[in-house]
Amino acid sequence: MQLTSTNSSIGLIYALKKISIDYFKIQFKYKVIIIILIKKNKINISLKKDKFTEFLYQKLAWGPLYKKADGKVIENLDNNSEKYIKKSLKIMKISPKSLKNKTVFNIGTGREAKVFAKYGALVTHLDIGKETVKEVKRWNKKTKKKIKTFSGDINDFNLGLKKFDIIFLAGIYQHLKNPAYCLIKFLNALKVNGIMYLGFYRTGEFKYFIVDTIRYLVNKKLLPKIRELNSIIYCTGHLNHYQSSRVMDDFFVPYKHNFHPRDVIHDIKKLGGEILYFDNDMREYNHESKNYFTIGGDRIYIKKKKNSLN
Ligand SMILES: C[S@@+](CC[C@H](N)C(=O)[O-])C[C@H]1O[C@@H](n2cnc3c(N)ncnc32)[C@H](O)[C@@H]1O
Repeated sequence: MQLTSTNSSIGLIYALKKISIDYFKIQFKYKVIIIILIKKNKINISLKKDKFTEFLYQKLAWGPLYKKADGKVIENLDNNSEKYIKKSLKIMKISPKSLKNKTVFNIGTGREAKVFAKYGALVTHLDIGKETVKEVKRWNKKTKKKIKTFSGDINDFNLGLKKFDIIFLAGIYQHLKNPAYCLIKFLNALKVNGIMYLGFYRTGEFKYFIVDTIRYLVNKKLLPKIRELNSIIYCTGHLNHYQSSRVMDDFFVPYKHNFHPRDVIHDIKKLGGEILYFDNDMREYNHESKNYFTIGGDRIYIKKKKNSLN
């Protein structure tokens, strides 16, 4: 049947009406979804310091990336913890297989704890966030593993004495309220001949001069804007992205210390620790030199030789 012009315009009006009703429905549906999402992910900057730290890690920084699973292997990024843990184990001269029944203490999103548990280690895990811990418990149930997992601040956590064969701390030390106090806890909690991996921020790095200046200038009110801008400029619009997480972490966590390896080594030795491996990069920074922008000297492997102070 051929459409007359009247028929066709009635058809058109009908079609347009239908489209606009559908469009309205879709719009409404998405508006509701967006409102729910905003409410769920509301960036609550009025939280008290400790609660804010927890919120930041759980919702804006590392939690959304690694709470459920480890990241993919990406060249030159610490996105996949199994990969860097295996590298560390080589340095410690411990094969993944021989992790079986070794006691391990780990702080973080839970992804590292899961790797150690996967190889049969008896893992104690701590994180400031409650959701991380819930997720580790869920994983325990699913995999029938038995990671002991706790939510709390390491500053107030009783780690016990001479309990662990391995303590693995990547990206933790620089964010502690009182690192030296925690270092005593860590060394006390290591068994004699136990090994600890400690990664930290090295003082003098040009990037930290910039980050520390920004930390001085920004306040929490700017957080949502910085998060959005950074994700648009560097993360193709993704809010939960490796780079975006780093920015949230570095700009907004309450504590960000930088250490010279000489000082960390001094403290370790004072507490009965021995340096098992260090790249020995003690170069002093020269920011006018073309030779290097960033150097090593920010990862230390420690072996406990005798009992430290209590
Ligand atoms: C930079 S992330 C990296 C952690 C680890 N490398 C990983 O991939 O799981 C720092 C982690 O330490 C936790 N954290 C920070 N400060 C803490 C504290 N004082 N006590 C316990 N956990 C803390 C955060 O919640 C976060 O999961």
